[in-house]
Amino acid sequence: MPSAILPSSPLFTIQQLSPELRKDTLIGAEVLLNNSDGSIDPSTFTPDNISILRQALYENSVLVFRKQQGIDPLALEQLAAIWDEDMINVHSAGKDQVRDPRSILSRNNGARLPAAPNVQVIGNGEFHNYEGLEYMNLRHVDSAEFHAEPLTEDELADGQTRFYRWHQDAPLYENLPGKVTLIHAVVVPKLPNQKIKFQDGQEMKLQAGSTAFISGAKAFQLLTPEEQEFALNTTVQYAPRAYEWIRNAKATSDGLGIVKVGAEAKEEDLPPWTWDKVQAFPVRLHLCLRYLLIASQMAWKNPGKPSQPHLQILGCCVHSLRTTDTKTGAVTGIDDLAETRRICYEMQRKVVKPQHVYAHHWEEGDLVIFHNYGVWHSITGQLGTTQRLMWQVTMRSGKEPEPARINP
Ligand SMILES: [Fe+2]
Repeated sequence: MPSAILPSSPLFTIQQLSPELRKDTLIGAEVLLNNSDGSIDPSTFTPDNISILRQALYENSVLVFRKQQGIDPLALEQLAAIWDEDMINVHSAGKDQVRDPRSILSRNNGARLPAAPNVQVIGNGEFHNYEGLEYMNLRHVDSAEFHAEPLTEDELADGQTRFYRWHQDAPLYENLPGKVTLIHAVVVPKLPNQKIKFQDGQEMKLQAGSTAFISGAKAFQLLTPEEQEFALNTTVQYAPRAYEWIRNAKATSDGLGIVKVGAEAKEEDLPPWTWDKVQAFPVRLHLCLRYLLIASQMAWKNPGKPSQPHLQILGCCVHSLRTTDTKTGAVTGIDDLAETRRICYEMQRKVVKPQHVYAHHWEEGDLVIFHNYGVWHSITGQLGTTQRLMWQVTMRSGKEPEPARINP
């Protein structure tokens, strides 16, 4: 079946990814540039170009631009601004690379490009004298340190990998997440394809180091009517300093959550924090024992498809839940961590099936833009010592995600 052509412009043609790639994901379109060298220059975009690109992302969640070797790194943040009128000109993870060893976000040994400090360099392997960076020893995550039940020697020999952490790029503290994330592939490892085994026995082949995506809209669609109502009426409170809090906790084999309670860092062992800076999506205040909670609704609004809620939960970082009774306005809470995780896991796991996962097969030069408020993504791949180098940009927003439904 041919790929559908979407609204386009003289500057570019947008076509959905092939049905074989899209499967039942709701994800994926490619932007083909019509200029002579095929490169992106956001400064040439007209208002029409911008509104077409904006809507294409909202409807397809992931846009792929090929052959962008040599792109100006500053173009990435200019592109990010297309989807965020309230964008603040700093990477959502902060001005500098996270280096605090207490944070799991420091484990990738990433760096920032000196010429474009909002471009984070991530990947795997050693690099010398790259773009003004004298030495980098980039680290791709590994199942042995990440999953509670890591891949066995036999499974590794069988070419298996796993999803790591299904997530949105969200600091969950102080800074609001970027509306979009951009990833540009500079060096792609040349390894045989690997595979992921699913709980129901299905298997999916994918490139070693492929980035996997799941639509939050598809996840919402698969919920029962009762679960959908619960998602629309419930906010998720994330843990303070979540990435330091879970630094010793191990993940479920499917990357959706944390296996058991008990390994979380004690509050006094976290970097300084205050509740008013812990996650601040749609601002709803609950007076809860000793603090004011500001939390994130489970179901987020898609600005381009307001009738289509997206289930957006960072399962590894959840702390507690608050549900509003839409008739009375009364709020009930779940503070038990194990129960909070169980509820989120049950809602998220239904969609984790091969037919709902788009795994991007990276070619050097690819630039992928994804709707961070509309999809979940996960690293995959067992890369050993092979080199991989990517640029990643996700810019702090000045405006919190909107809930799919405004509750009293
Ligand atoms: Fe990410």
